[in-house]
Amino acid sequence: MPVIEVENLEKRFNLEAGFFAPFGRFVHAVRGVSFSIGENETYGLVGESGCGKTTTARLLVRMYEWDRGSVRYGKDTDVAALSGAALKAYRERVRYIFQDPARSLNPRMPVYEVLVSGYRHSSRFPGEKKAREEAARILMEVGLSADDLEKRPSEFSGGQRQRISIARGLLMRPELLICDEVVSALDVSIQGQILNLLLDIRETRGLSFLFIAHDLKVACYFCDRIGVMYQGELMEEGPAETLYRDARHPYTRLLFSAGGRESPVRGGGPLGEDACPFAPRCALAEERCFRGHPELREIGPGRRARCFRVDDGPPA
Ligand SMILES: Nc1ncnc2c1ncn2[C@@H]1O[C@H](COP(=O)(O)OP(=O)(O)OP(=O)(O)O)[C@@H](O)[C@H]1O
Ligand code: SF4
Ligand SMILES: [Mg+2]
Repeated sequence: MPVIEVENLEKRFNLEAGFFAPFGRFVHAVRGVSFSIGENETYGLVGESGCGKTTTARLLVRMYEWDRGSVRYGKDTDVAALSGAALKAYRERVRYIFQDPARSLNPRMPVYEVLVSGYRHSSRFPGEKKAREEAARILMEVGLSADDLEKRPSEFSGGQRQRISIARGLLMRPELLICDEVVSALDVSIQGQILNLLLDIRETRGLSFLFIAHDLKVACYFCDRIGVMYQGELMEEGPAETLYRDARHPYTRLLFSAGGRESPVRGGGPLGEDACPFAPRCALAEERCFRGHPELREIGPGRRARCFRVDDGPPA
């Protein structure tokens, strides 16, 4: 049974809305995104900057309200209907680890306070003495020491600060941990250490993960299944190992070959809703790609792709 099930999620942000532009322009950040994450499963959301990964993650914990679609948690929780204590309890089960530990950890607060300041308001808070024991245990679990409870985040390196963020995420014993670019700001050698720590945590705690990254190879290493996003939409989804061996969407292939670097935009101005959003950059684009919007369709067991030419193979 899925831990979380997202269906047709839509989110637009209004820009420049005001007296002179009451119906200002908008960014369509998330467009009809559907996926689910199973128990003890790691699902990766991957794509270039601005494709809607963080917005999707924030919708899941109701940091924003969505315009359309649904999020179901567990057997029968409709996340849109939660409020008050029930919403708070949900956010303890589904924890979001921020993209930027330098900004999300208050540098002047002792690590103990960083860890328990949210926990203290939880109905499950066991009291200061017990919480301190739990916090010390969790620091050791993430590779720091109990003495570090009294230090300030500013005394730690980037990798250690990310360990503190992870400890804070774990303290309330969540079922689903959302890791938003938790390794991308770190040196490659430190990235490996943090990924291995997360793998250990997954093993020992049986957690589910939503792992957000712009690096498809890193995501393939860490995740069971991956959804590749482009301009707010899922372009391809499948088991990580299959995607790595046999990516079918031209955008997924580009991410693998370019390591996520931008490829030159080829021809054409902004496209309307009735076109493939990837068409201006696609080596396989043909006329129909500028006239119609491809559906996300099943292309094999557990695999989906949004491309008219997905069965044609790579370009000659
Ligand atoms: N609060 C907001 N107000 C207006 N626009 C927003 C807001 N948050 C995100 N956006 C826009 O929505 C789109 C998706 O942004 P999002 O942060 O979800 O992308 P991302 O995939 O997480 O990118 P990155 O890899 O850079 O973190 C972008 O065009 C962004 O500018
Ligand atoms: S639908 Fe056309 S433009 Fe879009 S990815 Fe497929 S081949 Fe490229
Ligand atoms: Mg982001």
